[in-house]
Amino acid sequence: MANTILIGMQWGDEGKGKIIDYLTEQKDIVVRSQGGNNAGHTVVEKGVKYVLHLMPSGILHKGKVCVIGNGVVIDPPSLVKEINSLRDLGIEVTSENLLISDAAHLVFPYHRVLDQHRDAAKGGNRIGTTKRGIGPAYGDKAARTGLRMSDLVQPEIFAKKLLVKIEENNAILRAYGEAEISYGEVLSAYRSAGDLLMPFVKNTVIYLHDAIKNGKRILFEGAQGTFLDIDFGTYPFVTSSNTVAAGACTGSGVPPHRIDKVLGVMKAYTTRVGEGPFPTEDSSLGQMLHEMGREFGATTGRARRCGWFDAVAGRYAVLVNGVDEIAVTNLDGLDSVKSIRVCIAYEIDGRRVELPPTSASEWLRCKPIYEEIEGWAEPLDGLRSFDELPDKACKYIDRLSRLCGAPVRIVSVGPDRIQTLLK
Ligand code: GDP
Ligand code: IMO
Ligand code: MG
Repeated sequence: MANTILIGMQWGDEGKGKIIDYLTEQKDIVVRSQGGNNAGHTVVEKGVKYVLHLMPSGILHKGKVCVIGNGVVIDPPSLVKEINSLRDLGIEVTSENLLISDAAHLVFPYHRVLDQHRDAAKGGNRIGTTKRGIGPAYGDKAARTGLRMSDLVQPEIFAKKLLVKIEENNAILRAYGEAEISYGEVLSAYRSAGDLLMPFVKNTVIYLHDAIKNGKRILFEGAQGTFLDIDFGTYPFVTSSNTVAAGACTGSGVPPHRIDKVLGVMKAYTTRVGEGPFPTEDSSLGQMLHEMGREFGATTGRARRCGWFDAVAGRYAVLVNGVDEIAVTNLDGLDSVKSIRVCIAYEIDGRRVELPPTSASEWLRCKPIYEEIEGWAEPLDGLRSFDELPDKACKYIDRLSRLCGAPVRIVSVGPDRIQTLLK
């Protein structure tokens, strides 16, 4: 299977970075196609932890090409910082192994201020965004007033377009009572980031089509997760891009019929950062996981909300993404749980439903219907092959697979690359 789309089946942080890194060995190119530096993808190799925000998680592998596609929104100074910190760790980042789409949109400081201001103004209905300016940047893209990488690398054009944008946004910031942004400071910071990024900027659509013609194998790295998707998630408590599998095509220019497989990644339980509906949320499970030092956000450091596995959500994720195979991560998080709850359906207004509703107000009325599965009650983190899994853990995995409607092919029992079991 040459070209695989990997997506998150829950609310993000499913362990996508770890699985991408593991699968990169079998691929030639890893492509990010949506989202921005709101993402935080963790890769642990030989005990060293790397957190990637804009950089595809294949970057640790020598000889593989990473592509940041047209659907991504890029904060140039932040990307430069990420490239420099990877270089400091001895990771090679050159114009041979990193390509950035000339059509990717740019995130500016005013997007970040607007992001914070708009979210705070929502009061009790706030989304709890990552404050990275993602929503306002995609807003400019949809309004057809955004600036792109192709502008950044043309200094004269960039200076003119930026002036218009800064004036326009300073008027908005003034009306909000926020401090104005200095044109000179932004121009200078973005120009120096632009100079550094210039060698990486290409028409990545043409590059990817040529690569496919030459038999290269591509892995598409989803950011966020299905229920943060702007169309299919718990709107408005979502991010501003299409996080589902289809987003990989619009965000890269690779057409759907060139995709061979969709791999869905899900945790053996559920987490969510930020606000919004979460039917299976359970504070005692959260307390247990937090006491183990787990489930703190890779981007913002916020404690993640935790809950039981939700097969209603899993089933829908299989549906909208066309998930062919599943990777289950963080199975070891449930090692000490005697009786594990799994949500098999919701009850809403006295009705039983097997698939989630559309509106956030309906989501909030959903009560989980649970079944209990006996835990394996032993540590799994030392396991190195699928056959070593205790029977009770196999039964749990098998139950999740049947409830969601797709086979489980990968099980992860720890953050390190070697703690990955292939079925
Ligand atoms: P992503 O955004 O989907 O890439 O996921 P994050 O990196 O934000 O969060 C997943 C967290 O779980 C990270 O800290 C990973 O190192 C960690 N992780 C991934 N798989 C496993 C696993 O099987 N067991 C344990 N203990 N940690 C895992
Ligand atoms: P990865 O790729 C988890 C959440 C935020 C907030 C909502 C909107 O690491 O899985 P945004 O800043 O995008 O406008 O915030 O989406 N969110 C994520 N949650 N993992 C992520 O990325 C996320 N990216 C955004 O917490 O609730
Ligand atoms: Mg993450």
